[in-house]
Amino acid sequence: MNFTLTEEQLAVRDAAREFAQKELKPGVIERDRTMTYPTEQIKKMGEMGFLGMMVSPEYGGGGMDSVSYVLALEEISKIDNSCSVIMSVNNSLVCWGLETFASEAQKQKYLPKLASGEHIGAFCLSEPEAGSDATSQRTTAVDMGDHYLLNGTKNWITNGGTSSIHLVIAQTDPEKGHRGINAFIVEADWDGIKVGAKEDKLGIRSSDTHTIMYTDVKVPKENRIGEDGFGFKFAMKSLSGGRIGIAAQALGIAGGAYELSVDYSQQREAFGKPIAKHQAIAFKLADMAVDIEAAKMLVYRAAWLKDNGMDYNQAGAMAKLYASSVAMRHTVEAVQVHGGYGFVKEYHVERLMRDAKITQIYEGTSEVQKIVISRGILKGQHYVPVEE
Ligand code: CAA
Repeated sequence: MNFTLTEEQLAVRDAAREFAQKELKPGVIERDRTMTYPTEQIKKMGEMGFLGMMVSPEYGGGGMDSVSYVLALEEISKIDNSCSVIMSVNNSLVCWGLETFASEAQKQKYLPKLASGEHIGAFCLSEPEAGSDATSQRTTAVDMGDHYLLNGTKNWITNGGTSSIHLVIAQTDPEKGHRGINAFIVEADWDGIKVGAKEDKLGIRSSDTHTIMYTDVKVPKENRIGEDGFGFKFAMKSLSGGRIGIAAQALGIAGGAYELSVDYSQQREAFGKPIAKHQAIAFKLADMAVDIEAAKMLVYRAAWLKDNGMDYNQAGAMAKLYASSVAMRHTVEAVQVHGGYGFVKEYHVERLMRDAKITQIYEGTSEVQKIVISRGILKGQHYVPVEE
């Protein structure tokens, strides 16, 4: 088994680490406190190529593999998870879905600006009454001949207020269940689109989460993605990869909390020695290191399977389930290692603890990941396949 990263992958990781330290760390506490969207930071991330990492150079992207993408997301997530979720949705759900399933004309029209970050994309699947149960779409798109008429409400939309392009999932034929669902490319400035107030969230507070209302929005026929009825599979396939991105985010959160804890516990003294030398703290550090290493294996492996054209649906769900639970558990421990200092904003770990929670919720709750994993098991997929 070869666990060695390539020189290119290492260079991407190092560039992301440096960028996060230099450009994202200053101001991250204030942006979180005031819920300020990271406009300048996202612009720079676009210039650095972080917003279209896996998109082919033909459409203006970086043409990188998923492992490089995961490494970059991990480093950015150690510092600023509002930036990392914006990056993750734009790369995994919007750019990847378009490049993989859109027509050549759609790709030419929409991908280059999304890959460069000039445009940001949103993935509009969740509804007030369709969260985990994604087939129960109430948003409708009625076929009017040369266009569809789109009506409905989407919520918890990351990039909801700042995106120029929405990928909207809607019911076109309720009789057909999930086969009557389609996905559409919708431009945010079309008539009939209203964006609700920014959500005031527990974590990832400077990212932009909104409800979006669509009222009689005319969507040209040529903006439907794929064959009629492909929308649910489009959403599921996009989420399979998206979950690897969220798993990488969770891994970064856990890694960030761990690195802060290792530093702090070597500086802080109690009872005459650094607290890292007391077993009470040393054992916490050991537990963190083991769990993060195990999560890393699942996350990198899911990305590697994707890069190698193998089935990664179950592997991505496993990575997200495990890494998000490690992130939650160990950010709580990191606060404990920091004692009273962990409870104040200046030391960063309380923010990571708040940010960790969403990784167990978005792009499918932990329970949804267990549905995906267990359905794989019932189909005979007992573990991640390896090539013979
Ligand atoms: N790839 C391809 N096809 C898939 C698939 C996948 N990963 N998963 C399911 N399908 C197909 C099935 O094969 C089936 O097709 P056929 O009928 O032709 O065989 C069809 O889709 C329906 O599948 P299921 O019967 O398994 O569907 P279900 O209704 O039981 O739902 C579920 C399964 C896994 C719970 C799914 O609804 C789900 O993933 N729910 C969670 C949705 C979610 O993650 N929402 C997050 C919102 S997006 C977000 O958070 C973005 C953001 O802003 C951060």
